[in-house]
Formats: sequence, C-alpha cells, structure tokens
Amino acid sequence: MGKENGSSRPLEGEQLLLGVMGDPIRQSKSPVMHNAAMQEFGLAGSYVPLHVKGENLEAAVEGIRALGFRGVNVTVPHKVNVMACLDAIDADAKAVGAVNTIVNDGGFLTGYNTDGIGYIRSLKEEAVPDLSGSRVLVLGAGGAARGIVHALLKEKPAEVIIANRTLENAHKLAQEWAGLGKITACGTDSESLRVSAAKADIIINTTSVGMFPDSGASPLDASLIPEGIVVSDLIYNPLKTRLLQEAEARNCRIHGGLGMFVYQGAYAFEFWTGRQAPAETMRQAVLAAFGV
Ligand code: ATR
Repeated sequence: MGKENGSSRPLEGEQLLLGVMGDPIRQSKSPVMHNAAMQEFGLAGSYVPLHVKGENLEAAVEGIRALGFRGVNVTVPHKVNVMACLDAIDADAKAVGAVNTIVNDGGFLTGYNTDGIGYIRSLKEEAVPDLSGSRVLVLGAGGAARGIVHALLKEKPAEVIIANRTLENAHKLAQEWAGLGKITACGTDSESLRVSAAKADIIINTTSVGMFPDSGASPLDASLIPEGIVVSDLIYNPLKTRLLQEAEARNCRIHGGLGMFVYQGAYAFEFWTGRQAPAETMRQAVLAAFGV
C-alpha cells in the first residue's frame, strides 16, 4: 500500500492517475477539464472516466489503492454511499453528508466535499465578493442545497431562507443547522415566495427545475424576482436558464452553474496536486466541450 515517499503524490517521472466514478459517466466534463489543467502544468498522467455500478463501488474504491490513483471525484449516484468505503471523512463533508472528492495518501483514503465551497468561491469571484450581511433565498432543500447552504453559512450572511416544495424538508435543514446562523424555511406557494424573494439580496436555485431538456421551466415566477439583485442558478445546461434570462431582464446580476462545476474541480485538483488550479483554462476546456 504505502509508497516510498509516504504518499501517493507522484514522484518525478511518475504518472498522476485521477478519475471520476459515476453511473452514468459518459456525459461527464470532468475528464476534459482536469486533463486541460494537467496539461497546463505539464503533468504526466491522466484523468479518466470510470463507469462504476453501485454493486461494484466498494471494489472500485479499493482499486484506487491497488492501482495507485492519487484520487478520484465521485458523482451521481455514489456521493453518499461512498462514505462507508473511506478511511476518513473531512468534517464539512460529514456535515453535508456527501463526498465528491477522494484523496489517496499512501493508501489512506480521505473524502472531501468541494461542491459547496466550489460554488461559494465561484459566486464570490464572479458576482458577490463579500457575502457577509446578505439575505439569501435558496430554492430547494436536497443534496445540492445542503452543500451550498453549509458553505454559505460560513460567510456570515444576515439570513438564509430555504424555500422548498416539500416544506418539511426545508424545515429539517433549517433546524439541523440552526446553530450555524440565521436560517429559516418556507414553502413554494406564490405568497411565501413573494415575501421571501422581496427581502432577498441573492436568490440561488439548487433545484433541477429549468435543466435541459426542460429548459422552458423556471422555479420562480419572473414577477417575483426583485429588480437589481443577484440571481444564481446551479444548472449549467443550459448555460443561461430561463430563471437567469428573466432575472437579467429585471436588471439583476446573474451567475450560472458553470463556475460551480469549475471550482469544485479546482479545489479537488488543488487537494491532489498541491498547486493552484488553472481555473480559467479549466473553464475554457468545459466551454469548448460544450461547443461554445
Ligand atoms: P440534488 O442532490 O440535485 O439537490 P435532490 O436531493 O433530489 O437532488 O433534491 C432536489 C431538490 O429540488 C429538492 O429540494 C426538490 O424538492 P422536494 O424536496 O419537494 O422534492 C426540488 N425539486 C425537484 N423538482 C422540483 C419541481 N419540479 N418543483 C419544485 N421543486 C423541485
């Protein structure tokens, strides 16, 4: 298991082996994005798509050690189940309840979650440099919302309101993290959304409403979007969702989901290589893969 240098970080001349485990995996843009980053630094090796079925997840994770992978990303549907296969889990990933990045240190596997912190880094770099004191309306209370809200609360917002179709799920999340900041819950009936949206500085969609091929849908009626605020959507296909188009028409600053994808990858790359990720190169590689 162990290597002579006590870690799985490749010695000079060794191949850096990375990948992404998921089912399906063919559509993933992670290989193109990370291979572009490796190329930029002249790192030998490869980042490969790994099609792993649920029943093979444990064996596949064991394979990280056996094959000397420095690490992998983990995507749908394995982000929760993979946690049972690891030696250690970062405290934030444990709180979120999901892992999307594994780091292999000499056979010792640690799980991290870079989705939420990647999203917040993107939001700060691309739209709102300082989130402290802001009032944020989060649409959705699922796995994606958990990552975002957990990372968001560290930025000391004045208030986070979780609006969810199933009100009970929003309440549960608000209760679970009540100790981390001011966090409240509401339903998605138009009156609740109107009241919550009216006091928001930032609205973030974490639901899949508006995602290709259902691009005509929006999680929020356009008339409820306040003029001139920041509206952000985790969806990156399409790059500009209907929600973002309608927000733009109401003079809002808009922020799409591509940045979250790039920065969750950037954090993972930094964990594996110890180098600052070339985020712009990674973004261009993904855009090129989309044919933009
Ligand atoms: P993810 O991990 O991508 O967040 P998830 O855990 O299945 O996926 O959560 C999806 C979120 O989007 C949930 O908050 C869900 O609301 P419910 O808790 O009521 O299911 C929300 N969502 C999905 N489809 C929706 C729709 N058509 N309208 C409103 N909310 C929707």
